[in-house]
Amino acid sequence: SKGLFTYDPGFVSTASCESAITYIDGAKGVLLHRGYPIDQLAKQSDYIELCYLLLNGELPDANQKKQFETTITYHTMVHEQLTQFFKGFRRDAHPMAILCGVVGALSAFYHDSLDISNPRDREVSAFRLIAKMPTMAAMCHKYSVGQPFMYPRNDLNYAENFLHMMFSTPCEEYKPSPVLAKAMDRIFMLHADHEQNASTSTVRLTGSTGANPFACIAAGIAALWGPSHGGANEAVLNMLDEIGEDSEENIQHFIAKAKDKDDPFRLMGFGHRVYRNFDPRAKVMKETCDEVLAELGLENDPQLHIAKRLEEIALEDEYFVQRKLYPNVDFYSGIILKAIGIPTNMFTVIFALSRTVGWISHWKEMVSGDNKIGRPRQLYTGSDSRDYPSK
Ligand code: SDX
Repeated sequence: SKGLFTYDPGFVSTASCESAITYIDGAKGVLLHRGYPIDQLAKQSDYIELCYLLLNGELPDANQKKQFETTITYHTMVHEQLTQFFKGFRRDAHPMAILCGVVGALSAFYHDSLDISNPRDREVSAFRLIAKMPTMAAMCHKYSVGQPFMYPRNDLNYAENFLHMMFSTPCEEYKPSPVLAKAMDRIFMLHADHEQNASTSTVRLTGSTGANPFACIAAGIAALWGPSHGGANEAVLNMLDEIGEDSEENIQHFIAKAKDKDDPFRLMGFGHRVYRNFDPRAKVMKETCDEVLAELGLENDPQLHIAKRLEEIALEDEYFVQRKLYPNVDFYSGIILKAIGIPTNMFTVIFALSRTVGWISHWKEMVSGDNKIGRPRQLYTGSDSRDYPSK
């Protein structure tokens, strides 16, 4: 038994670690952050409060939240010399490639002044990463479109500031509507943490060697980029673009492709390693999608209709039902991001931005404990011992 739960021995042997941060029940479609259900948090809290909860284990009172938010606000700027690092990339570099490089480079700015055995240094590293990710993410976008970097502003909240740095220019300030800013904040929340997914496990394994937190987060960004993981939100929009015309014939053609064992195509945004039920984040994301598109007068958006038809068909089709394949967090997020005006190549960057608090919370939990180096083992299937042939 561990905490609230008694695990069967088979499960214990597969578990990579103990953690008190997030709980998932894949069969029931349950996701709890420090015990609070994700749908309640997404509708009643905000990303800054969720960051405090994930990092500290309890919801902040009003003063604690204000102080935490102020600390984050006053860490949003990056070292001016970091802007030079961007200039080494080709303009057409994928923003995830740039982000991975730039976050890893933060090690060079903060590594020497960082003692990870010191709780205060661990806190400051967490603040720096949570605060600077929106700034660096927006810089990746600005660099790829050839516009000047926009500095963060201290009078905007976390989501408003990100949208400001993405879309304002020195010639014109971008003012997001409250609905779009709230939708952005909710997307940050729905991607914040998800137990031991591939990228979080990468961060924990990297951190178990004593590597600095900036290098660990850069490793997590690299792992997240894959289309089977965080890259799926970009892949969903590419799939909807490929389906093209909103016709039943086209939609049925892609459902057939997804079921064809000889075709590598999979329905992007569907299925999950753990959930064998609805991903609870997908339900909230779908509601948010309807709210945003209604606000923008896009409720008849053809790609939204295609997505809803894919979901309707898949939820009735024996192939998907038998395999318990349901929409996951990535299925509707891309449609919202596109409606907000975010380019497709920035979708996974936003996933990385959102997930940074989860990664750094797991890093902090691990390095604060008896941080033993991770060492996965294998089932050896190679050759038996043999002598080197004498010449
Ligand atoms: C995320 O781990 C996390 O928590 C991740 C994440 C997080 O917050 O960190 O939740 C974020 O990564 C969500 C997942 C995003 N990825 C996608 O949407 C890509 C499309 N999905 C698939 O690639 C797949 O479902 C995975 C990778 C998500 C899960 O893969 P599994 O668990 O290895 O699935 P599986 O291969 O065991 O599936 C079982 C069967 C197979 O068919 P059979 O061999 O039984 O005949 O289901 C099929 C698969 O071929 N299948 C699909 C499918 N997903 C699984 N068939 C068509 N379309 C799909 N999407």
